Amino acid sequence: MTTKQIIFLNNEYIDYEKAFIHIENRGFQLGDGIYEVVLYENNRLIDFDGHIQRLFRSADRINLKIEQNAEQFKEIFLNLLQKNQQKIGAIYIQITRGDGPRIQNMPDTYQPTVIIITKPYKAIKKQDLDNGFSAITHEDIRWHNCDIKSISLLANTTLKQKAHSQNCTEAILIRDNIITEGSFSNVFIIKNEEIITKGADKRILKGITRDRIIKLAQENKIKVTQREFSREELLDADEVFVTSSTLKIRPITTIDNVKIGSGKTGKITQKLIKIYKNFIENYSEN
Ligand code: PDD
Repeated sequence: MTTKQIIFLNNEYIDYEKAFIHIENRGFQLGDGIYEVVLYENNRLIDFDGHIQRLFRSADRINLKIEQNAEQFKEIFLNLLQKNQQKIGAIYIQITRGDGPRIQNMPDTYQPTVIIITKPYKAIKKQDLDNGFSAITHEDIRWHNCDIKSISLLANTTLKQKAHSQNCTEAILIRDNIITEGSFSNVFIIKNEEIITKGADKRILKGITRDRIIKLAQENKIKVTQREFSREELLDADEVFVTSSTLKIRPITTIDNVKIGSGKTGKITQKLIKIYKNFIENYSEN
């Protein structure tokens, strides 16, 4: 793969083409690591603090040491944005339990591997946002620690691929007849002008975009309730959308071939998209 850009690998800024890790890296061998994804626009890291706190929480949950602190990560992220000069995109940071012989238990001493990479992307078309996207529902086949942003993503990618093979954007997951989240996003429904999303526990990743949207909705006097809801409620909703750092707010207007509401992006979702756009345009925390 050739891409002209600089990445950060183990305390060095290097060319993308020259960035390699050892074959016995525990991330590669065992999926032993965690990651974060932070949206950036015009040199601003959106909700950096929330993401970096979650990175440290994920690390704590798997007893993974991190040598850098939040301030050092921010400096590296901003350096990369400056070096790569990409206006809009996402920064991926991945930390694994380092290199070493493939042993199943976790080593006491190790040098963590840190990879940080910027990925530019194009803004989504207005027409697509107005029409909305399709999703499937599927049993949530993941493990029971979904609050950890683990790099072991085989279940998530399998689910995403199932959606993709049916020309859908996302797989919305069901555990014990409760909607948990999407394969790579959080799920919201709107019924009678009230936004509903599942409360955060180990069954979902507590999305930074999710938390931001809840806050912005409340500030704009839109009612938000965090509670469980079923597939029946999902299909019967007036509006549905999913959120993530890379998707932002993505309206879902068809699920399992059933039209949601009018089959077009609803008015509250449209309003939230505007509110979030405005929030990002005026963002100035770094
Ligand atoms: N994924 N739930 C899951 C399972 C996710 O993978 C993600 C994000 C979210 C939303 O989290 P946030 O709003 O903090 O991005 C919820 C990222 C974008 C990814 O893996 O690429």
